[in-house]
Amino acid sequence: MHAFQRCINPNCNATFDTTEVLHRCSKCGALLDVDYEWDKTPVPKSLDYFEKYWRERAVPARFSGVWRFHELLPFAPIDQVVTVGEGQTILRGSDGVGAYVGVKPGSLYLEYEGLNPSGSFKDNGMAAGATHGRMVGAHSAACASTGNTSASLALYCSATKLMKCVVFIGSGKIAYGKLSQALDYGARTIQIEGDFDDAMARVQEVSKKRGIYLLNSLNPFRLEGQKTIMFRVLEALRWEVPDWIVVPGGNLGNSSAFGKAFIELHRLGLIKKVPRLAVINASGADSLYRLYNEENLRWNGGQIDQAKIDSFYAQMDAENRRANTIASAIEINRPVNLTKCLRALDFCNGVVRKVSEQEIVDAKAQIGANGFGCEPASAASVAGAKRLVAEGVIGADERVVCILTGHELKDPNATVAYHGSDAAFYEKVLGSRGVATREFANSPVVVANDVDQILSLL
Ligand code: F0G
Repeated sequence: MHAFQRCINPNCNATFDTTEVLHRCSKCGALLDVDYEWDKTPVPKSLDYFEKYWRERAVPARFSGVWRFHELLPFAPIDQVVTVGEGQTILRGSDGVGAYVGVKPGSLYLEYEGLNPSGSFKDNGMAAGATHGRMVGAHSAACASTGNTSASLALYCSATKLMKCVVFIGSGKIAYGKLSQALDYGARTIQIEGDFDDAMARVQEVSKKRGIYLLNSLNPFRLEGQKTIMFRVLEALRWEVPDWIVVPGGNLGNSSAFGKAFIELHRLGLIKKVPRLAVINASGADSLYRLYNEENLRWNGGQIDQAKIDSFYAQMDAENRRANTIASAIEINRPVNLTKCLRALDFCNGVVRKVSEQEIVDAKAQIGANGFGCEPASAASVAGAKRLVAEGVIGADERVVCILTGHELKDPNATVAYHGSDAAFYEKVLGSRGVATREFANSPVVVANDVDQILSLL
């Protein structure tokens, strides 16, 4: 295989074998990419080449929505990849959500990643990460999580029995839907007194000390799997590149992976146009927004102003500013993939916005009313698209793809609080966060156990 790991810092450019397990470049500390000698590996001449695999759905690696694009992430032989059937997701147009966002009919698409086996986009990355774990003979794997990564890792470990699983979560910071998955799939679950950023710091230390394989998106192999979300979007659009990809930003793994996908597709001559990328933070977890829009932090050809980042985080610590949002999956203040995301924003002429709790829950209700169930973090993408249309950054006739990253049933509290008639629950979950109105609420009706009274309501 002509794959290797490469430091993303162009001044360093160190390379490492794929058999090495590294969290960062051992020379300069920057993040790592998986890279390929593309001229030595068979690359299709056009993207419709991949359609031939549709006929091979009985073969697990071709059924996988990740591995049927194996030629674009060829770091392991196809007969050694790990799959549990991930990536059977759909891209569907929604004129209803499009009208809410403010674009013309036929312009808005939702990529529904909640359909993955563990209910979120993480399975794309986990299929690739678990494959690398197997390549290097890892016996145990760990991650820090706001919930979905832990659910996904736990599922892969229990379904394949390749590795034991340890997950680190912030206490009280995880939705029950996701916690229940980690427990049900048998993961050793460690609740840390702290938030995701604390859990992320601890899991890196622990995995280094104990030689446990780390499966957060810091792992460059995981992001290879997440590239395929973009391949499937293009596939569903019959290989036409949309104008915009809009994605929620938490640890910034997706946005980084999407940028890498487009950098490579462009370099390989498989696409001519590059879509613009919009990364959407929640207002209560807005480090990227602040660094990008207020501090003007940029990729700058790889010469990133680290002093700016350091002083930003020092200030954040001095003010004891902790991430806090109903969109629990993106409740993150120290995104580990920040530098890769800056590269993606640079290549894709990107923008960063933040959206309020109110905007998130209203967008979520509109997504639901139009036949998609997603968790609050995912709805940030639609809320962000709406904002960008209102600003005139996204044009009303541009083709926009919003990524719905996780399934609605993972975090039902926000949904029930929004639609339900329990005032105390509403106040606890949403009111206390500044959600003042419920414009799109579909409240249940309470009625006596009496057929005439029921009929009178219909
Ligand atoms: N949406 C969902 C549903 C998520 O679970 C996450 C991340 C994100 C968006 C943010 O994606 O990190 O690629 O920017 N959840 C992680 C977890 C952090 O632990 O499950 P990102």
